[in-house]
Amino acid sequence: MKLLLVGSGGREHAIAWKLAQSPKVDKIYVAPGNGGTALENKCENINITDIDKLAEFAKNNDIHLTVVGPEDPLTKGITDKFKAEGLRCFGPDSEGAKLEGSKSFSKFFMKKYGVKTAEYEVFTNPEEALSYLYDCQYPIVIKADGLAAGKGVVICESKKDAMKAVQNLMIDDAFNGAGQKIVVEEFLEGVEASILSICDGKRIIPFISAKDHKQIYDGGKGPNTGGMGVLAPNPYVTSEVMRDFENNIMANTLRGIQEEGFDFKGIIFFGLMITKKGVYLLEYNVRMGDPETQSVLHSMESDLYEVIEAAMDERLNEIQVEWKDEVCINVVLASSGYPGDFPKGFPITIDESIKDNVFLAGAKLEKGVLKTSGGRVLSVIGTGKTLEEAREEAYRNVELVDFMGAYCRKDIGIFE
Ligand code: AMP
Ligand code: GLY
Repeated sequence: MKLLLVGSGGREHAIAWKLAQSPKVDKIYVAPGNGGTALENKCENINITDIDKLAEFAKNNDIHLTVVGPEDPLTKGITDKFKAEGLRCFGPDSEGAKLEGSKSFSKFFMKKYGVKTAEYEVFTNPEEALSYLYDCQYPIVIKADGLAAGKGVVICESKKDAMKAVQNLMIDDAFNGAGQKIVVEEFLEGVEASILSICDGKRIIPFISAKDHKQIYDGGKGPNTGGMGVLAPNPYVTSEVMRDFENNIMANTLRGIQEEGFDFKGIIFFGLMITKKGVYLLEYNVRMGDPETQSVLHSMESDLYEVIEAAMDERLNEIQVEWKDEVCINVVLASSGYPGDFPKGFPITIDESIKDNVFLAGAKLEKGVLKTSGGRVLSVIGTGKTLEEAREEAYRNVELVDFMGAYCRKDIGIFE
């Protein structure tokens, strides 16, 4: 089979690596891909991002299945377009993708179907938002309605923070329209967990849980990033938490997907907050998390291609997704300066012995040389029977990778 994989991050390198292991997969075109997918087994990068051109490529190249990595093409309707052209595309239709693409839509959906989530209000008028924020309790959370590359959520400790957020999102329009509408939400205190899962429209199978480290510095200090490392499974996701999630979040979500009539053959990622009052849903994503995917897929025993095919054919009830009995950590190596400005173009060296333990993100292949091209450059994996073993291996492997200014947190896998 020939596949097309859309995306260019560390997540896509991990997806490509895992799909390439399937004996049924002969070739994976990655659009546009990165330095990691350029070198990956069975993979070839193609420089196409336009949805119509991707559909044309899939038609002309006998592509059996297209797998979409990021949310952007999904919210823009890549699945609708492919379906209309008789092509098979893994990922929800544009209506289903609104669960990630619009925070107000997803909150409305959660409330309608009884999915446990924080209380909220929606505003499209800055005066009304300001007047509400004048009298409410703090801290409070303000979220841009639309996609804002992970930067549209502000935790406001005070009225002053909230006024600033409204000014930035609604009045100054910092996210080109995405913050014209805002969701103002009750602040929840607890521990976060990511649960990626696969959905065929009739059933949802959760993957192993994961714990992201969002801040740049050790101990969870400093500004938020796209994610500096992941531990999977997440030790806070006990069987009791899992039951709570399945009964109060996952089951109701599935009912909603069915009643709304979404064509949802894809990934649904639940961003959870585990609180003293139980598990709450913070957000849906309609794609795999980055860098969660790098850990979760590394621990997947099953053939990912077979799992996706089962979802495409609405056969998830016939399969089991198997996991390795291991703890998996990925440590992100970032360019020095990230998440602020950073230099790029530095050569990257990776010891051959850890090839299967490195997923490249902000890296490109230039005349046969891997060079840094982004903030988060790559993830280094370590596994073990215990957290200590996994940490030890991950940080040993970090020593076998090098580029100028490489920075990583030293405490991935450790939580206070
Ligand atoms: P979201 O994009 O909605 O997941 O928000 C991004 C991050 O903001 C989450 O991963 C949490 O760390 C934080 N966050 C979002 N909503 C809340 C909330 N209601 N209470 C506390 N923290 C939140
Ligand atoms: N790591 C969180 C996300 O992918 O949204």
